[in-house]
Amino acid sequence: MPTIQIVTELPGPKSRALVARREAATPRGAAKLTPVAIVKAEGAAITDADGNTFLDFAGGIGVLAVGHCPPNVVNAIQRQAENLIHLCAIVGTYEPYVEVAESLNALAPGDFAKKTVLLNSGAEGVETAVKIARAYTRRSAIVVFEGAYHGRTNLTLAMTSKYGLFKQGFGPFAPEVYRLPFPNLYRRPPGMSEEAYIDDCIARLEHAFIAQVDPAAVAAVVLETVQGEGGFIPAPPRFLQRVRELCDQHGMVYVADEVQCGFGRTGRLFAVEHYGLAPDLIVTAKSLAAGMPLAAVTGRADIMDAPHPGGLGGTYSGNPLACAAAVEAIKTIGQPAFLERAAAVGERLRRHLLDLQAEFPLIGDVRGLGAMLLMELVKDRADKTPAAEETLQLTQEAFRRGLVAIRAGLYSNGIRFLPPLNITDEQLDEGMAVMAEALRAVESSRR
Ligand SMILES: Cc1ncc(COP(=O)(O)O)c(C=O)c1O
Repeated sequence: MPTIQIVTELPGPKSRALVARREAATPRGAAKLTPVAIVKAEGAAITDADGNTFLDFAGGIGVLAVGHCPPNVVNAIQRQAENLIHLCAIVGTYEPYVEVAESLNALAPGDFAKKTVLLNSGAEGVETAVKIARAYTRRSAIVVFEGAYHGRTNLTLAMTSKYGLFKQGFGPFAPEVYRLPFPNLYRRPPGMSEEAYIDDCIARLEHAFIAQVDPAAVAAVVLETVQGEGGFIPAPPRFLQRVRELCDQHGMVYVADEVQCGFGRTGRLFAVEHYGLAPDLIVTAKSLAAGMPLAAVTGRADIMDAPHPGGLGGTYSGNPLACAAAVEAIKTIGQPAFLERAAAVGERLRRHLLDLQAEFPLIGDVRGLGAMLLMELVKDRADKTPAAEETLQLTQEAFRRGLVAIRAGLYSNGIRFLPPLNITDEQLDEGMAVMAEALRAVESSRR
C-alpha cells in the first residue's frame, strides 16, 4: 500500500487556517517552504491536519537520520522528562550529557585524546569551535569557503556564503573572515579536466595565504566535508588532504563542519571517515539528537581545553531531554547495519536520480555522498544556466502529489534528497516515481 494518501485539496482547509494564523502572527522573514500544518509523523511519513499523508524527503533538513519519532527515542525522552527536564550543565551534572560526550569522544575520527562540549544549534556549535580555536592559537582570522553555510548568527553569517538569501540587510558582519574558492567540479571552467581544476583550486588556496591572509594569523580553517546549502558538493579528497597539510604546516586548527553531512547521512558516522582524515575539531548537530536541539564540538583534548574555566556553556546547552534523545540516536546510527542501510539508501536513490537524468534534460548534474544527494537543474546542459524557477515549480509539483522535497544550492536550482534513513525501498521508489511525474509536469509546461 502506498504511503502517500491525499484525501483533500492541497493545502486542506485546516492547514490553510493554521498557516494563515502563522502568517499573521510571525514575520515573513521566517522561512516556510510548504503550506501544510503537520500533526503527526512516523518514519518517512508525515500527516497533516486534514489527514493527508506525505512522504518526507526533506527529513527536517537532514535532522532525521533515524526517522520521525522512533520508539526508542520517544521512550527515552518520556523517561527523562519524568526525572529531569532541565538543570543547566553550568549548575550541575547529569549522566546523559556525560554519556553523549563520552560516545562522541570514542566515535570521532582521530587517534588522540578527545573532549566534547554540547551546545544548542549548529550555528552555536560552529561559533564555539571558532572560539576554542582562537583561544588555542591566540590568533583571530578564520578561513571559510565559497558556497559555505555555517548558520545565521552574526559570526556564522559572516562565514556563510549565498548573500542574497541569508545575509542581505543584516550586516555589518564579524571581521577577520576570509573566503576562498571551493572546488565545485560541475561548474569548473569549460574544457578544464577535473584534476586540473582541483590543482587550480589548491593553487588558489595556497596563493590566498600570501595574497589575502598570513597563515600565522589564522586560527581555523572551517569547512563542510560535503557542502550542504551550497549544493551537496563533496570536497574532493586531494583538496581536503591539502587543507589538512596546510593546517599542520601553519598551526591552523582544521574544523570540519559536519552539521548536515555527519551522523550517518553519508553511510559513515562522520563524512570525513570517507577521506581517512582526522580534523582537529568536528562540529555535529542535526541528526545527532533525532530532532531535539543539540550540537556538539568534539576534538583534540589539548585544543578543547584551551578556553578558560567558565568560558564555554549556555543555559540550555546539552539539555537533558536532548541528550537522552542523542544517547538513543547514537546507539541506532552507530550500528554497522544502520550505516550499511544508509549507504544502500544512497545507492538506490542515486540510481533513481541517474535514471531521471537520462530521461529529463533539465537535470544537469546528480551528486553527493551516500544518502546526501542532489540534482541540479539547468535550462541547458551545455551552458549550465541555473533553472531556479523550474526548481521551485518542481518542488510545488512534487508537493501537490504528496512528496515533500526542498531546494539547495548557491543558485537555488538543486533539489536535495535527505530522506529518513529508515525509509523502506518501497517508499523510496514511490517518492521517486512522484518526482518523475513532477518533472514531466514541469517539462511539459516549459514547451
Ligand atoms: C553545514 C551546516 N552548518 C551549520 C548549520 C547551522 O545549523 P543550525 O540551523 O542548527 O544553527 C547548518 C544548517 O543547515 C549546516 O547545514
